[in-house]
Amino acid sequence: MILRSLLFNTESVFMVKTKKVKMVGLHLRRWTLLAVCAGVNICVLAQDRIIPMETIGNALVLKVDQKKDVSIIYYGKKLNDRGEYGLIPQAYKLTGDGDYTQVLNAAYSGSGSRNLMEPAISVTHADGNNSLDLRYVSDDQQQFGPDVTQYRVLLKDPVYDFEVALYYKVYIKQDVIEQWSVIKHNEKGNVVLHKYASANLYLKADEFWLNQYHGDWAKEMQPEESKITHGIKTLDTKLGTRANLFQPSVFMVSLGKPAGEDEGTVLYCALEYSGNFRTDLELDFQDNLRIISGINNYASPYTLKPGEEFVTPGFLYILSHKGKGYASRQLHDWARNYKLLDGKGNRLTLLNNWEATYFDFNESRLKELLKDTKKLGVDLFLLDDGWFANKYPRNGDTSGLGDWQENKSKLPNGIATLVKEAGNNGVKFGIWVEPEMVNPKSELYEKHPDWVVKQPARAEHYFRNQLVLDLANPQVQDFVFSVIDNLVTKNPALAYIKWDCNAVIFNAHSAYLKNQSHFFIEYMRGLYAVLKKLRDKYPTVPMMLCSGGGGRVDYAALQYFTEYWPSDNTDPLERVFIQWEYSYFYPAIAGANHVTDWGKQPIKYRTDVAMMGKLGFDIVVSHLNEKDLTYCQNAIKEYNSFKQIVWQGDQYRLANPREGAVASMSYVSKDQSSAVVFNYLVNNRYGQGSSHPVKLKGLDPVAVYRVTEVALYPGVNSVIDADKKYSGQFLMDVGFNPQVNSGRTSVVLKVQRVK
Ligand code: DGJ
Repeated sequence: MILRSLLFNTESVFMVKTKKVKMVGLHLRRWTLLAVCAGVNICVLAQDRIIPMETIGNALVLKVDQKKDVSIIYYGKKLNDRGEYGLIPQAYKLTGDGDYTQVLNAAYSGSGSRNLMEPAISVTHADGNNSLDLRYVSDDQQQFGPDVTQYRVLLKDPVYDFEVALYYKVYIKQDVIEQWSVIKHNEKGNVVLHKYASANLYLKADEFWLNQYHGDWAKEMQPEESKITHGIKTLDTKLGTRANLFQPSVFMVSLGKPAGEDEGTVLYCALEYSGNFRTDLELDFQDNLRIISGINNYASPYTLKPGEEFVTPGFLYILSHKGKGYASRQLHDWARNYKLLDGKGNRLTLLNNWEATYFDFNESRLKELLKDTKKLGVDLFLLDDGWFANKYPRNGDTSGLGDWQENKSKLPNGIATLVKEAGNNGVKFGIWVEPEMVNPKSELYEKHPDWVVKQPARAEHYFRNQLVLDLANPQVQDFVFSVIDNLVTKNPALAYIKWDCNAVIFNAHSAYLKNQSHFFIEYMRGLYAVLKKLRDKYPTVPMMLCSGGGGRVDYAALQYFTEYWPSDNTDPLERVFIQWEYSYFYPAIAGANHVTDWGKQPIKYRTDVAMMGKLGFDIVVSHLNEKDLTYCQNAIKEYNSFKQIVWQGDQYRLANPREGAVASMSYVSKDQSSAVVFNYLVNNRYGQGSSHPVKLKGLDPVAVYRVTEVALYPGVNSVIDADKKYSGQFLMDVGFNPQVNSGRTSVVLKVQRVK
């Protein structure tokens, strides 16, 4: 009885608004029935329904009102009394004439109806109508173990048989939320999706400060912070592959004022997607911030068939009230526990031959390098670009890409011999591939011109002399899969793969697809299908995600990769800055850092910087003088002794290289018994150095620690007195001076609890 009258009331609401009353009524009955069947609480029809989604520290709260509009009423600190969330809206006063639309804070904004702002979704229905108004149908939740709750809120258009399910996967302990949407309809024909965001957030604060990143080759992760002004700021990419080259999808928004390392409220965001993304940050006329993020709809209206589900990628966010440091440590924990492939596992140190040989090597040279690998003391030798192709040998970057057969003149006995030889030397063997790409000068291109992304009637345009293969085509997917599959099948002992991606997509066109508007989306679906198939067959082979530097890292890709290559820029001074910025979003275990000949810094500085993640080398070992070699060998041993702290510990950024002459970063073991602190001179002007102590963080204040300098260059005695003991409180409140100066430009300290 109650249900009937509530239903009637709601129908009445709609009767005023729409002419299609009957149809709407039917829909409502069906929804109600569904809700009852699913055991869903439908008292929403009588009163507002509040849906708090809580983490350990925060709550994202949705409200369903009498009209079934679903809005975001709060994203902030968790309240002790859940009953009080419903009181939040009354604490705010609308400015001017208020919200004309009534949907400013919609949980997922439609378009063509009441919404006047940037929509999350915009469609053309089967009958040509462009309006969409999404109303609540039901909500439910699913538990994945004690720490992860997934909420689902189903929305439906009262006029059209069109629905969107909003998913919020809440990682309680890490304060992380992943949000995505699933779009579906049962109209009488196809619906065109013009925009299809993953998520739509709504934030309230006096001011909003955006910290975004831009870049280019060798200049990844350049930060820019600015106050968000009214209107829309869009962060996006249209590059298809190597999508992050100019801009990654990660960003931060500080609420109130720019957040510091340990103070201020800051929201970290990232789209889990490796292709074109778009994030709109719109400061609306009520001075609130709408954040809408998803796949970039650029050149990509999507035709959705009746019954087909369009699943958007996850939009990841985490809110911290204790500054950037807390947010990044929580995010690192989340990544290691839930996302990054083998996030709690081991990683291999390596010697890469790229900068040592480029394309110029042969079997005997590689055998020497295998010996050097052993001599250096790393786990694996990584053979880079140039080992393949015969008709058009890969002796430079203009030919051979796509022809994945060993080059007979360089490697007459194939890869198998090298893998075996590596084993004889007591090291492992890994290999470079770039399977999504093709040089026009290749047999693959000659045989399958239809597999190549290019406009049929236009001149080809190249990025690094190469083109992209059409992963929208299932045959190409099989080919790309077979590149890796053949290598691993033929060489089961192959222990590592570096997957490169050096070109963006020009002239986007698929000879396979009927609907070119689906190209960018189908490319990514194809890529993920290949990666999934590979991981189903080879779950553990470590794989590096490289994109001519850091052109591609994101959390969708990192489900399949154990590590990423942050930048081709391995100048250690530059790296201090680049790695610093990546460290906000990705844990150290995921960052592959190689010691190379880039930059003017001594070998110690170069190696120390590379140790702040997953250590590798890309140098000619035989060119190292005796002391440098000894330094590297000792440093690798040292690294092996503390790498678990770097990989699995809590990371603290202690001294920002952008703010002073010294950069300092530390990693503290979870039990607070040990820490490793890396300190660098980043300003070479006269007299610069650590004039003040660096305040450590994350230690136990009542414990007593000893501080020793490690990774010392041969013959150098440390100026640090290893016999002194300090309380954790002293090290954190007064600090410790690493004594960085022009004679000690790189200092690594180990902090160990003595009682
Ligand atoms: C670009 C990568 O970033 C380099 O490390 C190297 O693998 C080259 N490609 C090889 O072509």
